[in-house]
Amino acid sequence: MASSGRWVRLFVFYISVEVIWFLFNVGCVDSANNIAEKKLKVGNISKVEDAVNFHIYYGQTFKVIKNAIDGKSYLLIQSDSRMASRTKYCTSRIKSYVVPLSNYSVDTELFPVSFFELLGLLGSLKGITADSVTSQCVLKLYESGEIKMINKSEPQQLAQFAAHFVTDTDHAQACNFASFVPFVENTPLQRAEWIKFLGVFANLETTANDFYNAVKENYLCLARVAASKKSFKPTVAWIVHYDGVWSFTKETYKLKFTEDAGGENVDKSINKMTYNISNPDDLDEFHAILCTVDVLIDETDTSDPAAYSLSTFLQNINVEDHSCFAFLSNQSLWRYDKRIYNSTLDWFNGAVSQPQLVLADLIEALFPTGNYTTTHFRNLAKEEAVISIGPEMCDRDTSTAMQPTIVACG
Ligand SMILES: *[C@@H]1O[C@H](CO)[C@@H](O)[C@H](O)[C@H]1NC(C)=O
Ligand SMILES: *[C@@H]1O[C@H](CO)[C@@H](O)[C@H](O)[C@H]1NC(C)=O
Ligand SMILES: *[C@@H]1O[C@H](CO)[C@@H](O)[C@H](O)[C@H]1NC(C)=O
Ligand SMILES: *[C@@H]1O[C@H](CO)[C@@H](O)[C@H](O)[C@H]1NC(C)=O
Ligand SMILES: *[C@@H]1O[C@H](CO)[C@@H](O)[C@H](O)[C@H]1NC(C)=O
Ligand SMILES: *[C@@H]1O[C@H](CO)[C@@H](O)[C@H](O)[C@H]1NC(C)=O
Ligand SMILES: *[C@@H]1O[C@H](CO)[C@@H](O)[C@H](O)[C@H]1NC(C)=O
Repeated sequence: MASSGRWVRLFVFYISVEVIWFLFNVGCVDSANNIAEKKLKVGNISKVEDAVNFHIYYGQTFKVIKNAIDGKSYLLIQSDSRMASRTKYCTSRIKSYVVPLSNYSVDTELFPVSFFELLGLLGSLKGITADSVTSQCVLKLYESGEIKMINKSEPQQLAQFAAHFVTDTDHAQACNFASFVPFVENTPLQRAEWIKFLGVFANLETTANDFYNAVKENYLCLARVAASKKSFKPTVAWIVHYDGVWSFTKETYKLKFTEDAGGENVDKSINKMTYNISNPDDLDEFHAILCTVDVLIDETDTSDPAAYSLSTFLQNINVEDHSCFAFLSNQSLWRYDKRIYNSTLDWFNGAVSQPQLVLADLIEALFPTGNYTTTHFRNLAKEEAVISIGPEMCDRDTSTAMQPTIVACG
């Protein structure tokens, strides 16, 4: 019969998660009766349905997350188990954490903190590396001193937390680092499912599952309604201007958003190209393509989103004759920088955890009713302004999980 003691000893020798998983299975077989009697304490589990870059496995007193993007495995040991005080891993393949995490910090440069916020976990967020955060409640906790600013160049400052979450997997990572990488997934729902990844660190599987299920149901309902529209499919282009050159997006999740909203992406052969506006041939070709576009999304990065207006766009586009631009005559020129804090966009935060809001925005952009207030998209053609968020806008108890914002559908 496998005892907890034997488990611990086995772990000491086998650090690869495949081996752990194998032993776990063998253990199950060995002690099937024992486990049946004890009614496997594993209460709430998450199953990954859509995301492809992480997997979750459950044992009695531990869980394992396998992160496909960096090949690492996280062994999460329940704090009330004997293993918690005896076992600690930090190898190139496996790291261990005691859960639920008593505290954590986040590398907040382009980190979707909304995932923590939605789960009601801001109370144990104790450190951030930058205030470029589009969450009014994180800003408020920072202002009140609950959350401290930490310097990411000082390893000992990062080491004081039970976990330090990062989205950047390229750099060397200390023992308490955990890579949270919803951005690598290819569809909006896959990205949103990463709420389950954080749920596992907090024993909040049930909350995370319920949240994701509600988001997914709402998203799929909106997509079904959009697909059933009888009208023509508007052509949508996501374009970005950088250093005098315009290019069309290649990001799959954006193309998926277009399709799910009932639109048509500009042809794939066009998608690959870049257009230098100083080159007359490029400019001509770019002009011609834009003449076929019904809805245009300008993704151009700027240090001052609030000041980016229709005239900024027209300057960047450098085309004199706008007469063929349907997205102008029909007022359908958009940017996803409606919600900002300084130059940081909620697009990289709230839009990742709640893609149903993005889809609803896009459906309104493609099939305007004039009856829906968008969350992330603002219409440049109508000179719609940005909304600057700030700490004073936080008006809720940050230790309570939030419900998803469900959009009327049907
Ligand atoms: C399972 O989830 C329920 C509801 O969220 C919670 O009350 C319970 O404590 C959880 N059990 C475990 C073992 O985490
Ligand atoms: C962060 O730490 C580095 C290295 O110690 C130091 O050079 C830098 O000035 C610190 N930054 C701040 C804002 O304190
Ligand atoms: C975080 O929690 C750990 C225990 O997991 C504790 O040792 C540490 O002091 C805590 N750090 C902070 C900054 O609260
Ligand atoms: C765009 O074209 C101009 C003129 O040919 C050239 O000077 C510039 O380097 C080009 N820009 C890029 C980013 O290639
Ligand atoms: C303008 O938008 C309306 C829907 O609001 C659509 O019916 C019409 O075809 C569009 N016109 C052009 C030129 O895209
Ligand atoms: C962001 O804006 C606030 C005031 O709106 C300012 O106090 C803060 O320093 C700014 N932060 C950054 C990183 O620019
Ligand atoms: C606008 O929204 C209201 C409330 O959701 C709804 O009753 C009404 O039918 C909508 N109007 C249009 C034109 O869609």
